[in-house]
Amino acid sequence: MNPTQAETGPVVARNAAIVVFGGTGDLAHRKLYPAIATLALRGEVPHGLVVVGCSRSEMDDHMFTTDVRRTIAALPNGEALLLALDRLDVEFRWVTGAFDQPSTFEKLRTVLDDADGRHGTDGNRIYYLATIPQFFATVAEGLGAAGMASEPPGTFRRLIVEKPFGHDLESARQLNDGLHTVFTESQIFRIDHYLAKETVRNILALRFTNTIFEPIWNRRYVDNVQITVAESLGVEHRGTFYEQAGALRDVFQNHLMQVLALVAMEPPRSFLPNAIRDEKVKVLESVRPLDQGDIQDVVVRAQYESGTIDGDTVAGYREEEGVDPHSKTETYLAARFEIDNWRWAGVPFYVRTGKHLAARSTEVVLRYKPVPFLPLPPEAVESVEPNALILQIQPDQGITMRFAAKVPGSGFQVRTVDMEFDYQDAFKETPPEAYERVLLEALIGDPTLFIREDEVLQAWRIVQPILTAFEHGTVPLSVYAAGSWGPAEADDLLDGGRDSWKEPQ
Ligand code: BG6
Repeated sequence: MNPTQAETGPVVARNAAIVVFGGTGDLAHRKLYPAIATLALRGEVPHGLVVVGCSRSEMDDHMFTTDVRRTIAALPNGEALLLALDRLDVEFRWVTGAFDQPSTFEKLRTVLDDADGRHGTDGNRIYYLATIPQFFATVAEGLGAAGMASEPPGTFRRLIVEKPFGHDLESARQLNDGLHTVFTESQIFRIDHYLAKETVRNILALRFTNTIFEPIWNRRYVDNVQITVAESLGVEHRGTFYEQAGALRDVFQNHLMQVLALVAMEPPRSFLPNAIRDEKVKVLESVRPLDQGDIQDVVVRAQYESGTIDGDTVAGYREEEGVDPHSKTETYLAARFEIDNWRWAGVPFYVRTGKHLAARSTEVVLRYKPVPFLPLPPEAVESVEPNALILQIQPDQGITMRFAAKVPGSGFQVRTVDMEFDYQDAFKETPPEAYERVLLEALIGDPTLFIREDEVLQAWRIVQPILTAFEHGTVPLSVYAAGSWGPAEADDLLDGGRDSWKEPQ
């Protein structure tokens, strides 16, 4: 929800230049340029828009433009997208330079001043850090030293920071401090693209605009909560990056912690950005710190071995390009958390993510307690699973209510059935891709979909004991076959194996 929109109708983004640091990179090509073109097609970008790519790659405007257009042309609706860019006269410019050289920023300034003159970008800038994280602070400092960070009256200068934000709690603190020497917190937009997914945003709508769910959203009724981000893809061509990140830094610390916060938070006083973020921070603060003494009982890490996915044999992680053949990096991580507050005391939160699992599926499952007394003989119950409310986030977006029903016929047999709601069916619309939303909201200046400084630090605080345990080797590294649902050890996390993970749909 964008409160500004709620109050005033659609907000139009103001003219601006988007500077993409790391403009030849994978993220820029896979996500940013397609997102800009799609926004253009929908008429959601401003009339004056210039995209400036910047990195050490030796290119010129023409080469960059050709490169971006080729990327866009290869998309399913490439022709229409290119036409939309042309209609809006979106210009692509290139600046070659090292991020630690003042001359890079001088060249950039010349290009941006020129854009202001020719496209009316009015001094407004989005600086998008799509580089490797080591350069985040360097680029910010370069912008600061060149006087390109502060906002002249009536203009905006926003810094979009990609994940991972830091590689542990301390480095995240230092990065925050470094960025704050140049940009104010309100200028910094830390990305977690999960927050821009329509169904993730819908968690708030489901919980706080309905009467029927909130009364059963607490320890009195919920037995446990399971949050899964399962991917069928492996590390693809990102082996070198993934070796440094692992599942913990790649998905667990950010996407999973954000979903957990939205599922567990208290009702916000409004849907204004800081009201939501305040509640997220409060609940993250209530997540009980994991104790090094028994961390191996509540955390499972594993790596995929060769296996079969969709009938194809896939290589094990250690055989992937860019990966150390003796690597100990986890491609799967599961953990059990407790939240020490009035609503959730005693309710375990089981959280897991993994690459090369059996299917792509992100979902949240609230598993309910059994009825206090079942007025039926055991033979009348065919197969009754606990009641559950399942929020499917992707690939299909929907909500399933799982409950017991009488099997038709004489006698009284019951079994589990599902009542399903499908967003696509209900709204007949394909929701925008997360990066389209992210870019648009940054252009508009709505920080709701971005992570505030204290949120990112809280998420690191929660996972830091896991990192420490990995460093000390306290949590053994298990293995799982690619195409499976992960290591057997993960089942023991659930109430010592008495409960089970709900198999994703
Ligand atoms: C990214 C991770 O942040 O999220 C990737 O770096 C992961 O490794 C991706 O595949 C998952 O995002 P989505 O939108 O495909 O669920």
